[in-house]
Amino acid sequence: MEISQLNIGMQVPDFAALSTMGPIRMSDYKGKWVIFFSHPGDFTPVCTTEFIAFAQTNQDFVDRNAQLLGISIDSNPSHLAWVYDIYLTTGITIPFPIVSDRSGDIARSYGMFAPDVTTQETIRDVFIIDPLQTVRAILIYPATNGRNINEILRLLIAIQTTDEYGVLTPANWEPGQPVMVPPPLTYEGLIRRETDPERIGLECEDWWWCYRTIPFPESE
Ligand code: BEZ
Repeated sequence: MEISQLNIGMQVPDFAALSTMGPIRMSDYKGKWVIFFSHPGDFTPVCTTEFIAFAQTNQDFVDRNAQLLGISIDSNPSHLAWVYDIYLTTGITIPFPIVSDRSGDIARSYGMFAPDVTTQETIRDVFIIDPLQTVRAILIYPATNGRNINEILRLLIAIQTTDEYGVLTPANWEPGQPVMVPPPLTYEGLIRRETDPERIGLECEDWWWCYRTIPFPESE
């Protein structure tokens, strides 16, 4: 089986498909962030908990101009029956489209089949796609373990923060915490950070290891 080499920094393949909210194209979402995620199959327990968690976090994604978009190789009637079953069981409506990819062509073009899996079952991939339809992050989880939806949201906010402020985010960063600035590229910049970092709004451990604060997203 041919496996796609889609990686961060690349343009996403466009596609047209049937979804639980009607026909869609990936290119319909230009200008928005897209969280495009595959799951192994409908009516499976781990996937169901993920869809409930995505539904409960949906508004946080919408608030950040991001569209959730699910996909698997199940049929559209199967997707519809599953989301209705989730509604009947929990009262939760799935507020985002789920793409049906019966041929597996879309999943193949995004590399959503694991090379060591012989069945035609998509694994748990997550693509964070920016408004120019460039892949910014890819997360891959095994079928046996559900995703942490808060981590997907955290990573989206971190990437958006980088784009807005030209900053980096340290390990375990959470929105509202200090961010990092890239190391200086000139000797003059090095000396300025070394001698008086506070004057340029930085808090430094060393001239190449500095933090700054940015407005907290909720208070902007
Ligand atoms: C699940 O979502 O529960 C699941 C999917 C595929 C294999 C095993 C579990």
